[in-house]
Amino acid sequence: MKIAVIGAGAMGCLYGGKLSALPENQVFLLDVWKEHMDAVNEKGLQMEEDGQVLTYNGLKGCTSASEAGPADLAVIFVKSTLTEQAVRGNKEVFGPDTLALTLQNGLGNIDILKKEIGESNVIGGTTAHGATMLGPGKMRHAGKGKTIIGELDGRESERIKAVAALLEKAGLETEISGNVLGLVWDKLLVNVGINALTAITGLHNGELLEHPETERLLEKAVEEGAAVAAAKGVALGFADPVAHTKDVCRATAANKSSMLQDILNRRQTEIDMINGAIVREGAALGVQTPVNETLSQLIRFLQKEKK
Ligand code: PAF
Repeated sequence: MKIAVIGAGAMGCLYGGKLSALPENQVFLLDVWKEHMDAVNEKGLQMEEDGQVLTYNGLKGCTSASEAGPADLAVIFVKSTLTEQAVRGNKEVFGPDTLALTLQNGLGNIDILKKEIGESNVIGGTTAHGATMLGPGKMRHAGKGKTIIGELDGRESERIKAVAALLEKAGLETEISGNVLGLVWDKLLVNVGINALTAITGLHNGELLEHPETERLLEKAVEEGAAVAAAKGVALGFADPVAHTKDVCRATAANKSSMLQDILNRRQTEIDMINGAIVREGAALGVQTPVNETLSQLIRFLQKEKK
């Protein structure tokens, strides 16, 4: 299968690297970071995992989508702030039959893909893996978790089964869900509880539970998000999203969340698609979200400071 991974950050490299290890796949990594793509092409992708360094030599790093051309599957892994720009800037990857899979954090990615490439070509999902970029061509797989994917209309189609089988075969534990919106919100609430708090405090995911102050704020932020989801009529997959978020903290304990990595690397964060989205949706539905509002403003302040 010809696969294009758009956005070769730590997560894009994790999925691209694992998929490239299967001989039947041809995997293109697309990113604007030339030094990184050159390193992947020259030395392979180096992935730190379980204390070992694995090298994936089968990937082709590209800074232009024309080098890849139309793919069977495009996995979108850019920051959710860049989804529209990345799809428009990599049009050559999307042929009439290309299936686009978003596993990104945050709210709004599916809607952008539907608008840009057409609803029938889009599938969605979430990932509970944690990964960290270490430098050009180098990343760490810092926490393992499930990938859950689904058709937007909930069907268990042949193509969704094929993509799930492909990911499983690559060593990425995968399930199919009939409720993609619920999935996206399940993951959103995890990010609502972990990302801004780790970015503000500098703590690793697991450390949030070692301090009553951060644990309490995590609970409050997720509870507000769950109240917004309920008011919106979203059927969450987890009966207790706070407990689920804490489970993810433990499963990815050693990871620096993506938002902490963004703040440390002076990059724009996904705050407006995570805690900011809860505030916006809450305001529209008359649900109070003071903790998410505070976390959002603090992150916006830090982003400004770090520019
Ligand atoms: O954004 C992240 O960092 C990840 O979604 C997660 C699951 C919080 C792990 O760090």
